[in-house]
Amino acid sequence: MSISVSEAVALRRSVRRFLPDPIPLPTIRRVLEQAMRAPSGGNVQPWNGIVLTGEPLNAVIAAVLKQVALGPDAAKPEFPVYPPGMGSPWRDRQITLGKALYTALHIERHDMEGRHRQHIENFRAFGAPVCMFVTIDRALGPPQWGDVGMWLQTIMLLLREQGIDSCAQEAWSAYGRTVRDCLGVGDEKLLYCGLAIGYRDGGAEVNNFPVPRAPLDEIVTFRGFE
Ligand SMILES: Cc1cc2nc3c(=O)[nH]c(=O)nc-3n(C[C@H](O)[C@H](O)[C@H](O)COP(=O)(O)O)c2cc1C
Repeated sequence: MSISVSEAVALRRSVRRFLPDPIPLPTIRRVLEQAMRAPSGGNVQPWNGIVLTGEPLNAVIAAVLKQVALGPDAAKPEFPVYPPGMGSPWRDRQITLGKALYTALHIERHDMEGRHRQHIENFRAFGAPVCMFVTIDRALGPPQWGDVGMWLQTIMLLLREQGIDSCAQEAWSAYGRTVRDCLGVGDEKLLYCGLAIGYRDGGAEVNNFPVPRAPLDEIVTFRGFE
């Protein structure tokens, strides 16, 4: 039974605990085939994805966890995920999310060890059976990065239509070089993010806490209407 776009938008959320149930290749191929209709400036379609499951995914996870174990200096971010000193209101929204996430996980505010443990879950793709690694050519600029976002949201909504969940994960970009080496992707490209794909563990608190949004009128201004 198919769902409306509104339902897909409402039902999508970032899932951070997945069931191990596999996703068949024809399902994932169909979604990605449909998502090829995503718009991009000049129709340049600047996105690339490498979809892994099973052994190849385990190999990337093992390689990255090995780097993580070496300590923070082993992280070599491909790009700053947030600008240094990111101010209000963006930082406030980020803090609000962090509080909600750690509360759902029963991690205390000052429990840095607990926070680190959760961060590391990123590098297991939160237990998802599938992860797509998204790359973009370094020659491309901000408008094309925006296009990649169009593609990703199209994929995430189409996955929801199939009853499948996801979590976009910029965290992987901190170990972009390691991931790219595993995947045979050269330095001409950078790793933008991962997309963990699978079925949600519906009972997990981490998949059920509310993630508020700014009020519409804080974001959008309307002019010229009656
Ligand atoms: C491009 C992108 C990268 C993200 N990277 C991460 C990540 O590395 N780890 C994580 O736990 N969540 C990540 N998220 C999820 C966001 O935190 C989430 O989308 C936001 O808090 C809104 O919540 P919702 O997706 O549940 O509606 C990412 C989301 C996007 C769009």
